[in-house]
Amino acid sequence: MNATYEDHLKTLSSEWNELLVRNGFDGALIAAGESSFYFEDDQSPTFHANPHFLRWSVFDECEHCVLVVNAESEPQLHWYTPADYWYLPTSIPKRLASNFDHQVHTTLEDLDRACKTAVQGNQRIAYIGPEPCAQLSLSNVEPAPEKLLNQLAFRRAFKTPFEIACMANATAIGVQGHLAAREAFFNNGCEFDIHLAYLKASKQVESQLPYPNIVGLNEHASTLHYQHYALSPPSTIRSLLIDAGAKYQSYHADITRSYARIEGNEYDELVSTVNDFQLQLISELPSFDTFLDFHVRAHQLVAQALVDCRVVKCSATATYDQQLTDVFYPHGTGHLLGLQTHDVGGHITDEIGNSVSPPERFPSLRLLRKISPNMVFTVEPGIYLIPILLKSVAGHPDINWSKVEELLPFGGVRIEDNVAVEEDGVLNLTRQAFQAAE
Ligand code: GLY
Ligand code: MN
Ligand code: MN
Repeated sequence: MNATYEDHLKTLSSEWNELLVRNGFDGALIAAGESSFYFEDDQSPTFHANPHFLRWSVFDECEHCVLVVNAESEPQLHWYTPADYWYLPTSIPKRLASNFDHQVHTTLEDLDRACKTAVQGNQRIAYIGPEPCAQLSLSNVEPAPEKLLNQLAFRRAFKTPFEIACMANATAIGVQGHLAAREAFFNNGCEFDIHLAYLKASKQVESQLPYPNIVGLNEHASTLHYQHYALSPPSTIRSLLIDAGAKYQSYHADITRSYARIEGNEYDELVSTVNDFQLQLISELPSFDTFLDFHVRAHQLVAQALVDCRVVKCSATATYDQQLTDVFYPHGTGHLLGLQTHDVGGHITDEIGNSVSPPERFPSLRLLRKISPNMVFTVEPGIYLIPILLKSVAGHPDINWSKVEELLPFGGVRIEDNVAVEEDGVLNLTRQAFQAAE
């Protein structure tokens, strides 16, 4: 299969044409969106483009730009490059200029007028983007119905070869950051130092990250999305959990590693155990039909790991059946990955756009779909010592509380890889990138 951007566009064209026609639309107007100011302020968060737009442009400096997709003709790109001296305007990238029928507008009024002209003569146009939007006042433009959005989300989970290649590149960039972060950790860096080492080696400024880096030393590793960067190291450095990603042409990588400061100690044993069963889990992936089954298998392996590391005193089966694994492993085993770190569509189960909710036991499981070729998702099991959750099972006779006390100061372990499902196996983008870099 060809991994060029041009082939990616061909796939998108046929996918969109098919879904628009199926839903009774002549076309779609996709707005990249715009950032808005904080309340009573003239500052705004970093602009994140509408992923429907981004999937065509794969270039995220596209504020205000609009793509008109027509089931009968070529898509038309309306690029916005204002005459501005406060911020540097973004010219249309060469690749977009050469692949799209396009117009460049210097004012929003011109852009609005051009969009109106572009949809004239059409009966029904689906609008996909943030609201309010000037075009929605046109009689032939309506917000895209949920079914169409669900169907697009369902398809978006099947990545084109170009998209998978972008994610492989994003992973390789992230791995450069992870290697530098690991070095900073072993050189006694504080969370802030480790964060900066990551940014420098992966050549990203903070606003370019796919999600804020999670850099937790010691107990901080037990907060799943720990958001601070301590400016000085703790008096004793014991463990590091770093969850940090990267982007390549707008596609994300989402990678976690955990490290013990002292080789061979009880936390190091936990890291090795999680690492081993994470690899085992991935090797078993082809034998699973749905991600929910895969997640249950992850829980079984977590249960066995808790037995092996003497955290529980009962059998692995009893650990799972009593829901003790939920205490040590409260998040999902993975999620779709793409233009968003948590790519949409994980709960959409079919082409028609039907959706399901996660089962009661696993409310935070973001992916419930059948595992299918060309999906890219994370596999990110972990074992954590989370005081709030441990409190909920205080005094449980099957928990080895002295072992829990011993591990609490280390926070937790997560190992997260990004994998692409292939026809006859699994490609582990993360392990591949670490192997190439180390
Ligand atoms: N980095 C967020 C996550 O792993 O889902
Ligand atoms: Mn993840
Ligand atoms: Mn992550």
